[in-house]
Amino acid sequence: MGLREQIEQLYERDVKTLDRPAALRVFNEFKFFLNGGEVRAAQRSTGNKSGWIVNDWVKKGILLGFRLGEMTDVSSNEHFRYFDKNTYPLKRLTIDHQVRVVPGGTSIRDGCFIAKGVVIMPPAYINVGAYVDEGTMIDSHALVGSCAQIGKRVHISAATQIGGVLEPVGAMPVIIEDDVMVGGNCGIYEGTIVKRRAVIGAGVVLTGSTPVYDIVNNAIYRRTPEEPLVIPEGAVVVQGSRHIDAAFARQHHLALYTPIIIKYRDEKTDAGTALEESLR
Ligand SMILES: CC(C)(COP(=O)(O)OP(=O)(O)OC[C@H]1O[C@@H](n2cnc3c(N)ncnc32)[C@H](O)[C@@H]1OP(=O)(O)O)[C@@H](O)C(=O)NCCC(=O)NCCS
Repeated sequence: MGLREQIEQLYERDVKTLDRPAALRVFNEFKFFLNGGEVRAAQRSTGNKSGWIVNDWVKKGILLGFRLGEMTDVSSNEHFRYFDKNTYPLKRLTIDHQVRVVPGGTSIRDGCFIAKGVVIMPPAYINVGAYVDEGTMIDSHALVGSCAQIGKRVHISAATQIGGVLEPVGAMPVIIEDDVMVGGNCGIYEGTIVKRRAVIGAGVVLTGSTPVYDIVNNAIYRRTPEEPLVIPEGAVVVQGSRHIDAAFARQHHLALYTPIIIKYRDEKTDAGTALEESLR
């Protein structure tokens, strides 16, 4: 039986009835491939509009790991005390991975893939199932949540939160495609897909419930029952607001926070978001 079938069968069973050592062997093999980037929580697909499909079975495998794990004391010493499931220790990177983990409080959980040339400024947290591709910069105080898929040469700026999407298993994780710039203090949540070369201006928050107004193409982008919120290729999204059209709201001049596509990437944007090669 293949790895996928084994994971799916184990996931369906009550954990108390499992042969624990045998289940852990399957889980450890699964985690090996997750660490190597051979299995991913979502993958490219030409079959649907967003260009991505979620791999439910991979998310099931990750959840299985939490069920199988036992609480363990993983303290560094008597002062730095930590407790977690023993199935998810810290990822064991070596110099051969060619990833820069700058000292100072970063945690990278086992079961995520970090490609060569990635730079991680402290403190950052990268959770299980995350996939971070070559040449990407994860800046200080950034979160790459569980199962988030981050492309090549992406800049995740300081204090930006890329939300984790583990449950439900069928839900799309957050996807940031190649050459995207996510400015400081952003929040990208609930399976939002940011297509190639888009720029998310500082402080923009995107959730599954956030409509995004494109004033270049006179369009409104939203999540649908079939597709997550998708930010188009090259879009430059900045913070905006819109009036609330209700009597009380009008009376009090209330507005809602609204991300707006103000333009599509041009030379000025490129100049403002260029990555400094010498920092890499
Ligand atoms: C989005 C961003 C890259 C600007 O892109 P740009 O292509 O240079 O944008 P422009 O200067 O051509 O601005 C286009 C319009 O959007 C407006 N605008 C630009 N950035 C904006 C922002 N962040 N919020 C609101 N409006 C913004 C401009 O005022 C301009 O409107 P106007 O023509 O009516 O004046 C920039 O605002 C930004 O957020 N950079 C990220 C900074 C950051 O977080 N760095 C990380 C360090 S760790």
